[in-house]
Amino acid sequence: MIILGIETSCDETAAAVVKKNGDKIEVLSSIVASSEELHQKTGGIIPEQAAREQVKSIIPVIEESLKTAKYKSKNIDAIAVTYGPGLIGSLLVGVETAKTLSKVWNKPIIPINHLTAHLASCFIDSKPDFPAIGLVVSGGHTDFVLLKNINKVEYVGGTRDDAAGEAFDKSARLIGLDYPGGPAISKLADIYIDSRLHGNDKLDLFPRPMINSGDLDMSFSGLKTAVLNYVKANPSFDKNKMSAEIQEAIVDTLITKAKLAIDKHSPKSFLLAGGVSANSRLRVKMSRIFGEAETPKMYVPIAKYSTDNAVMIAVAALMQENIVTWKEVNANPSLSIEE
Ligand code: KG4
Ligand code: ZN
Repeated sequence: MIILGIETSCDETAAAVVKKNGDKIEVLSSIVASSEELHQKTGGIIPEQAAREQVKSIIPVIEESLKTAKYKSKNIDAIAVTYGPGLIGSLLVGVETAKTLSKVWNKPIIPINHLTAHLASCFIDSKPDFPAIGLVVSGGHTDFVLLKNINKVEYVGGTRDDAAGEAFDKSARLIGLDYPGGPAISKLADIYIDSRLHGNDKLDLFPRPMINSGDLDMSFSGLKTAVLNYVKANPSFDKNKMSAEIQEAIVDTLITKAKLAIDKHSPKSFLLAGGVSANSRLRVKMSRIFGEAETPKMYVPIAKYSTDNAVMIAVAALMQENIVTWKEVNANPSLSIEE
């Protein structure tokens, strides 16, 4: 089974060719074009501009993915495409391109939920056991789910306001860092953490709301206000220390809630996915929860498959095989993680 995956839900335009041979998944190509540079200039994503860039790059990106994989369209068994959630203009570029190719090439199409696909990224090189707890932590979502299998996903808690990635991006902007804020904050925070003489001074400047709420809900919108107030009161703040403080407030909240999710649901696996899961501090602190214990085992994709890519779309398709005809596929910007 050979799948061409297409992903355009936010500012990336991505295509990948993935092959399944028995139980083995082989990534034959993964191309990601980003309009990140354009959005650095504006300090965030401008949806219409993102979609205009995607219109320009979608065909070259698909061609490149086939060329790198050394496959022609006739060798592909199906086309998988993200149909939601995301920005409507961006989703339409991928969905309508996939539908057109499906009709012209006479290939079936597999519509994929972007959030389920983030969870599927944990299955690229591994085979996690079910039931699993998944944490999708990205620019638009921070969701805990209980998975009986990849097609049976139950939402069990998450952010009530901003997503964790959004909190990184908004806080970064307030301290003068470029978009996307997550990697920018992570870089400076690592420098600060590495340079501390004794490494044991506390990073507790900012609040961790809802940390003791007893459920798996979170709130990140207060962080940007706290950062704003601090910056106003201390105009000569240290950017590296501020980055470490912001990162720690977000990471600590996610860690506390992950522990609670494991206590409540006793899963066999814990799947950490989405752009923020590329964060090294989160990965290190999260893996400490699991220590030497056999279960649950933690799975996190390599960093390039944490952020948006099309390999995860193709892998989700291989796990679902929910084949439909092109007429049945429509972009759905507000698709939930359970759909
Ligand atoms: O999954 P993703 O690529 O796109 C969405 O589906 O939203 O996630 C993007 C988010 C952005 O908010 C970005 O700042 C954050 O992931 N991010 C990170 C890191 N790399 C990306 N946040 C913290 N540390 C990182 N290393
Ligand atoms: Zn994503």
